[in-house]
Amino acid sequence: MSIRVSVIGATGYSGGELLSILARHPHVELAGVFSGKSGKTVPFETLHPSLGGKKGPTTVPYSHDAVIASRPDVVFLATPAEVSAEVAPLLIRDGVRVIDISGAFRLKSAAEFQKWYGFALPDPSLLEEAVYAVTELCGRELSSASLVANPGCYPTSVVLALKPVMQFVDVAGGIICDSASGVSGAGRQSSEAYSFCELATNFKAYNIGRHKHEPEMRQALGLAADSDFVFAAHLLPVIRGILTTIHVKLKPGADAAAMTAAYGAAYRDKTFIRVHPAGKLPELKDVAVTPRADIGFSILPDGKRAVIVSAIDNMLKGAASQAIQNMNVMFGLKETEGLA
Ligand SMILES: NC(=O)c1ccc[n+]([C@@H]2O[C@H](COP(=O)([O-])OP(=O)(O)OC[C@H]3O[C@@H](n4cnc5c(N)ncnc54)[C@H](OP(=O)(O)O)[C@@H]3O)[C@@H](O)[C@H]2O)c1
Repeated sequence: MSIRVSVIGATGYSGGELLSILARHPHVELAGVFSGKSGKTVPFETLHPSLGGKKGPTTVPYSHDAVIASRPDVVFLATPAEVSAEVAPLLIRDGVRVIDISGAFRLKSAAEFQKWYGFALPDPSLLEEAVYAVTELCGRELSSASLVANPGCYPTSVVLALKPVMQFVDVAGGIICDSASGVSGAGRQSSEAYSFCELATNFKAYNIGRHKHEPEMRQALGLAADSDFVFAAHLLPVIRGILTTIHVKLKPGADAAAMTAAYGAAYRDKTFIRVHPAGKLPELKDVAVTPRADIGFSILPDGKRAVIVSAIDNMLKGAASQAIQNMNVMFGLKETEGLA
C-alpha cells in the first residue's frame, strides 16, 4: 500500500520534521511539497538537513490547483492557523483528506475559537467534522476522518499526562500546569524577542491567562470554562522539547498504586508512551528527537496532592510524529509505521 502525501508549509520547522519522517516511511509516496508566502523553490535534498541524498519533489510555492494536481490522498498543513483555516475547506471540498498541525480546527465552539484566535473561521461547520486526535487517546473515529485536528504541543504534554488519572483528581482543588518549551515551538520566525541575546541563559513565563492552548486543554480534559485551571507557558533556552509539571489535589483514597494502574490501562500497549514508576520523573533529554512521551508522578508525603510531570519533543510528539501516527491510523497502517 502506498499513500500519496503532500505537505504545505514544508519550509517551516514542523514541515521539515514531517518531510524527514515521510521520506523514510515505507508506505508513503511524496506527491507534492509546498512553501508559502516566501515563494521559495527548494530542491528536496536541501530543504531539511536529514533529507540530504534523498529524492523527492522540489518545493514550490503553494496554490490550491498545484496541490490538487499532485493527486494527494492526504495533505498535511504545517501552516499558521489563519492559512489552514482558508486552505483546509478547499481541499476537503475536493475530496482530499487533511491533517492540520495548526490550531484552526481543534476547538469545537466557533465562538471560543474566535475569542482565543482573534479571527472567524471561513467555514466553522468543519469544527464539528474535525477529529481531535491525541493518537493514544483517540477512538475509531480517526479511521474515517476527513479532517484531523492534530493537537497542540503543550496540550499533548498535558492531556497525555492527566487524562488517564482524571478520575483521581479533585477538580475543585484546582489544576495548575506549568509548561516550559524550547524555542522551536515558536516556529521559524525571527524577531528581537526571539533573538539569541534575549533568550540565551534566560527563562521566562509568557501569555498567562491568554494562551491559545488553554481552551484546547480544558476541552480535551472535559473541564468547564469556569473550572479552576491554570496553564502557565514558559520559554526555555533550548531548541526543542517541552517539560510540563502539573499540580493536582487528589480525591480521598487515591494513591500511587491506583494511579500506576490507571496509566497502565491507558498506555500498556502504546509504543510511544513510557510511564515511569511512582517517584521517578521524566527529563527532556530522554525524549528530545524522539516520537515518545515520558510521564511520571510523585505523591506528596501527606497523600493529598500529586505532581505529575511529562516530557515530549514539541516538533515530534507535539506536532510531526503525532500527525504521522494519526495518518497511519487513518489509512489502516500500524500506528508506529515509519516512526519506530
Ligand atoms: N513548532 C512547533 O513546535 C509546533 C508544534 C505544534 C504545532 N505547531 C503548529 O504548526 C504550524 C507550523 O508551525 P511551525 O513552527 O512549523 O511554523 P514555521 O516554522 O513558521 O513555518 C510556517 C510554514 O507555513 C508556511 N506558510 C506561511 N504562510 C503561508 C501561506 N499563506 N500559504 C502557504 N504556506 C504558508 C511557511 O512558508 P514560507 O516559508 O514560504 O513562508 C512555512 O513553511 C503552526 O500552526 C504551529 O502553531 C508548531
